[in-house]
Amino acid sequence: TELAPCDLILFGCVGDLSLRKLFPALYHLQAAGLLHEQSRIIGLARKPLDDESFAAQVEAAVRRAVGSAFKESHWQALLKRIRYLRLELSEPKDYLAIKTLVVDLSPTVIYYLATPPELYGTVCENLNASDAIVPGGRIALEKPVGHDLESSRCINDTVSRYFSESQIYRIDHYLGKETVQNLIALRFANNLFGSQWDQNHIDHVQITLAEEVGIEGRWGYYDRVGQMRDMVQNHLIQLLCMVAMDPPTQLTADSIRDEKLNVLRALRPITAKNVARRSVRGQYRAGQIDGVPCPGYLEEQGGRSNSDTETFVALRVSIDNWRWSGVPFYLRTGKRLADKVSEIVIHYKSQRHYIFDPRQRSMVQNKLIIRLQPDEGIRLRVATKEQSLQQGMALQSQALDLDFGGGQQGRIPDAYERLLLELMRGNSSLFVRRDEIEASWEWCDNLIDAWHQCQTPLEPYAAGSWGPDSADALISGRGRAWHQRV
Ligand code: BG6
Repeated sequence: TELAPCDLILFGCVGDLSLRKLFPALYHLQAAGLLHEQSRIIGLARKPLDDESFAAQVEAAVRRAVGSAFKESHWQALLKRIRYLRLELSEPKDYLAIKTLVVDLSPTVIYYLATPPELYGTVCENLNASDAIVPGGRIALEKPVGHDLESSRCINDTVSRYFSESQIYRIDHYLGKETVQNLIALRFANNLFGSQWDQNHIDHVQITLAEEVGIEGRWGYYDRVGQMRDMVQNHLIQLLCMVAMDPPTQLTADSIRDEKLNVLRALRPITAKNVARRSVRGQYRAGQIDGVPCPGYLEEQGGRSNSDTETFVALRVSIDNWRWSGVPFYLRTGKRLADKVSEIVIHYKSQRHYIFDPRQRSMVQNKLIIRLQPDEGIRLRVATKEQSLQQGMALQSQALDLDFGGGQQGRIPDAYERLLLELMRGNSSLFVRRDEIEASWEWCDNLIDAWHQCQTPLEPYAAGSWGPDSADALISGRGRAWHQRV
């Protein structure tokens, strides 16, 4: 679709997300010629800033993010679009200024809420009271939408009083990552994979979202949320849906989202009955990452010494449908782990009738490794014959590699570039529908309740490790183990 001019009204424009992610993404879109000539960016926040000092903050952030590729000419072109407006989110009369700005201008207005979710309702009500919602306007909501099913419903109810579902863009930035989108191409454009994507061929699936960083000074936010709500409820579940969904009938937003919803509905609940066998929760202690000592979670700045918040989660999840019957999905995510890695690994079953040395069997099983970050790419491990004159047939596992980074294809766009672009194009397929978010909360609420009921212990792990030992125990059996990057 051709780009139409739009006004991006950015609430929370000097917050961490805006400075670290959104403005650098807008800079790259500008550099790639993907912003319409007449599009404008209006930043809103509480700080008393003039246009110049706001621009200086944004410039510093963009320079930091873009590094040596920064070009003055692109920045100047972006700068021309940027304005600052001071606004107290809870002050209805401040919204009149937005009204004045948007009345005669762009055909499409995007209200981007990079604010705490508790304020989504207030912002919508105030926009409406000042008559500042233009017909056809779009609203973008950052995760998390709510803290549990009930609060999420409440936010969705309020927002939907002013915007219809097709105008609401709920962001999960993992859906904007190139390799996640590539899953659709991989699965549905390749008969080779598409025809083998089920319980007949796949033994189990692993998804790992590991981070080296801790909570980055966000104790106030993180301690109330924990890894379950910060990463599992949204990013991890969305990836699970992308891997597990049936083929959508078309490449349209609703067709894709219908299929993801079907997966969510088929997730077997984790309850007090099975929580001990199916989940591990952990919290990091002091340790070392790349030789640098790191404090434990409880010693983080602003920390509370008796916090019971989990910084690591591992799960064994079952999907009760035809395609995945008997195929466990092992999920794990944590802060302060040994490495920053996001990857999906599909472990195939081995040949039923096996004519080679059985001792080699598990070593040479097929694996499809989809790396989201770093080194974006797809690797297929296949069994080949060892090159030697040895008697018999010795097998080895070799890799067929697709490397999406570097090389011919150049830099990989950041998730937020893709998401902002699709938002401006009005394509909702990379955004999360209300029913998906609510189904995911329902499943996560059950699990969190089960943790409370059973007082599931919080297992310590050293910063720089791969999590508590019981995460290894969760997957072991039948020769399974967490995939190690080599
Ligand atoms: C965010 C979480 O949504 O995703 C953070 O709130 C986390 O805690 C981040 O660090 C990870 O994103 P990425 O793109 O760096 O893997």
